[in-house]
Amino acid sequence: SRVAILISGAGSNMAAIIEAAKAADYPAEIAVVISNNPDAPGLALARAAGIEALAIDHRPFGKERHAHELAIDAALRLRGVEVVVLAGYMRILTAHLVRAWEGRMLNIHPSLLPKYPGLDTHARAIAAGDAEAGCTVHLVTEGVDEGPVLGQARVPVEAEDTAETLAARVRTVEHRLYPETLATFILQRKTAPV
Ligand code: GRF
Repeated sequence: SRVAILISGAGSNMAAIIEAAKAADYPAEIAVVISNNPDAPGLALARAAGIEALAIDHRPFGKERHAHELAIDAALRLRGVEVVVLAGYMRILTAHLVRAWEGRMLNIHPSLLPKYPGLDTHARAIAAGDAEAGCTVHLVTEGVDEGPVLGQARVPVEAEDTAETLAARVRTVEHRLYPETLATFILQRKTAPV
């Protein structure tokens, strides 16, 4: 399947998926990487891997969120994209784009959903005294961080953890979980009746 990855920043999950997709038997090819932030380091990483990387800046669109999304949607369709992967894409999508890609758009969230939707997940897990934390890959629906869960990975919370050390531990398992869950999702989609 032709996959697009949407980012806003570092792109470490993007890089993990690009790396996994190099394997001959991986069921996805990365058609394009799109960032709303022209300065996202992930754009350069993608280009270095030989993948087309576009900046579609949201700022010139001002309050016209839908118009910005239409520009992204057009870029996706032009490239024959079938599945969209959000990987640290830090803008909340409007219902228009979510509906257009419903069932074909994945996100990774750094908590064990339904715990801690939204921001500051690691600080919240530490403050709550949780023994474990983790990450969730889910389908994107209109409710933010509410879509059906496709996969989760867990890590222990250590006594001396800060939000930063916990985030780093979770990120290492994100990099395994996301490529694996994407591959499984695509294979199941292919064999599912239309
Ligand atoms: C990850 O922690 C992801 O769970 C969250 O944003 C972060 C993105 O990091 N949605 P990166 O850009 O993939 O390095």
